[in-house]
Amino acid sequence: MEGKYYKTKESVEEYIKLAKGFNGAQLIEKLKKFLPLNSTLLEIGSGPGSDWSILNKSYKTTGSDNSDEFLSYLNAKNATSEFLNLDATTLRTEKKFDSIYSNKVMHHLTDDELIKSIKRQYEILNADGVICHSFWKGEGSEIFKGLFVNYHSEKSLRRFYKGNFEILLIEDYKEFDDDDSILLIAKKK
Ligand SMILES: C[S@@+](CC[C@H](N)C(=O)[O-])C[C@H]1O[C@@H](n2cnc3c(N)ncnc32)[C@H](O)[C@@H]1O
Repeated sequence: MEGKYYKTKESVEEYIKLAKGFNGAQLIEKLKKFLPLNSTLLEIGSGPGSDWSILNKSYKTTGSDNSDEFLSYLNAKNATSEFLNLDATTLRTEKKFDSIYSNKVMHHLTDDELIKSIKRQYEILNADGVICHSFWKGEGSEIFKGLFVNYHSEKSLRRFYKGNFEILLIEDYKEFDDDDSILLIAKKK
């Protein structure tokens, strides 16, 4: 679901300041247990690129976002790398990857959009491809800073992913408060 936060210069500058010091290092350490080094990896919603920089040390990482502001920022900071303009729901790319990663992005999708995204992720993954996504844990949905936020539980995630993916790991973790987040790692069936 579309919102303006992440899309204007002012809000992107604000987000970059607020998010300083936060990254997905602990999630990426978990992913490394399931994904061989040097695999190809697509990151959805790279934002300022904190996770992209960590992922890129271990994997052939392609960053992406659907915000022109974040894409300009990423391109300016990493002139030799290519970033794709991709929406998480449609993932319109001809490329295929060994893995797909996102950190606090997929919660911006409605249930219907998430179902479409999971189908697309399945299509653009190589055989035995691995996905790794984090979500805010909870029930229902809300609008926060003008953005749609869809909360998930272990039960709801298992339901969404079980058709196309074998779940390898699903666990709560702390972003700001104990157990406020869920990490899901799964393999293409
Ligand atoms: C919480 S930030 C991700 C931060 C990132 N993991 C990092 O390392 O800093 C969320 C990002 O998802 C992007 N985003 C939100 N909805 C999206 C969508 N439907 N498709 C693609 N990107 C989206 C936003 O533009 C923003 O850059």
